Amino acid sequence: MTEYTVPAFKTFIDDLRDHFAKELPETEHWEGVRGILKTLCADEQMREKSKEWPAKRGVELQLHHDPDHDFFVGGLIRQPKHQANVHDHAHTWTVYGVLEGDERTHVYKRLDDGSTPGKATLELLAQSEAPTGHVDIVPPWVPHSEWGMGERSVAITVRSQRPGGYSQNRFNLETGETNNSHRGLELIPTPV
Ligand SMILES: [Fe+2]
Repeated sequence: MTEYTVPAFKTFIDDLRDHFAKELPETEHWEGVRGILKTLCADEQMREKSKEWPAKRGVELQLHHDPDHDFFVGGLIRQPKHQANVHDHAHTWTVYGVLEGDERTHVYKRLDDGSTPGKATLELLAQSEAPTGHVDIVPPWVPHSEWGMGERSVAITVRSQRPGGYSQNRFNLETGETNNSHRGLELIPTPV
């Protein structure tokens, strides 16, 4: 296993590994991951470490890919006023925590039955503030987008698997168009 220099990150990975080994029922499992990520997002030394990370669109830092449980931990650094496209994470689960800055999360519901290829009708279901320390669970197939609300923001993701090996849907709210050609962001392995 990789050695980590930030103590809270080492504890975070150890706690996640212990938690994944329990193989709890789905809801309980992801609620547990949310709690573990909340603890990391409260850590000042981790926040300091993240200040070294450059903000670059289209990139996710790969902080950990678990050799036994396959979960993935990423870092997303948002430039000021960043507005992500509306997208889903296909069949995967994600727990998304704000380590620094203020974000706003938009969650959508798909109204059509998917019978017209390339078209989708979405309705905004919820819009919630995600200040530093806030942690959300993004279940499979739920369209959403995250916005940075001011200065640079940093989010930590815990994903059920490493992105890149599967197609994700993207949605254009203005034209009603959708496509599944997106395969995740460019991953950059980054030591913590
Ligand atoms: Fe997302």
